[in-house]
Amino acid sequence: MNGPIGRVHAIYPGSFDPPTNGHLDVIARAATIFPLVTVAVVVNPQKRDPFFNLDEREEMLRRCTTEYGNVRVAHFRGLLAEFVKSADADVIVKGLRVVSDFESEMAFAHMNRALSNVDTMFLMSDSAYSFVSSSLIKEVYLQGGDVSKYVPPTVLEFMEAKRHVTGRK
Ligand code: PNS
Repeated sequence: MNGPIGRVHAIYPGSFDPPTNGHLDVIARAATIFPLVTVAVVVNPQKRDPFFNLDEREEMLRRCTTEYGNVRVAHFRGLLAEFVKSADADVIVKGLRVVSDFESEMAFAHMNRALSNVDTMFLMSDSAYSFVSSSLIKEVYLQGGDVSKYVPPTVLEFMEAKRHVTGRK
């Protein structure tokens, strides 16, 4: 491909606690647009008491993205803007599920651009996953609900293993 898009490195950041089919859909679509996509797992999610530790979140993402030659998985501490600069990335990619996502994401995009001079591009989440979030998945799963339609089989296996280890219901 000619033009700047031919050498764009995109960062797709998130907590991924756990990765959902919505996340995987954004990764798949980003991988068709950008030559290199780094899925960047934040070390300390905003939410306290993460269900999965960093190694687990990275491992799930690696296993779920093996089919993409141009997707890699990494992690970062602190500011996303600093990671974006250190990774020499050109763009941040985020998924937007609903209009209310846009409000906070707009502020993040402005701040990240001010801090790193890197723009954020948004992909509309697939409508099938517009209501799917990691926190909702965890809540439903821990109360015994079936989340198999909303997470990849690998993630479901990790959730099952975690339930047995931690004794969480
Ligand atoms: O999956 P999430 O929890 O919605 O992802 C949020 C994430 C990791 C993208 C956001 O919390 C983030 O960028 N954290 C790093 C700290 C930071 O840079 N904060 C200022 C954002 S402008």
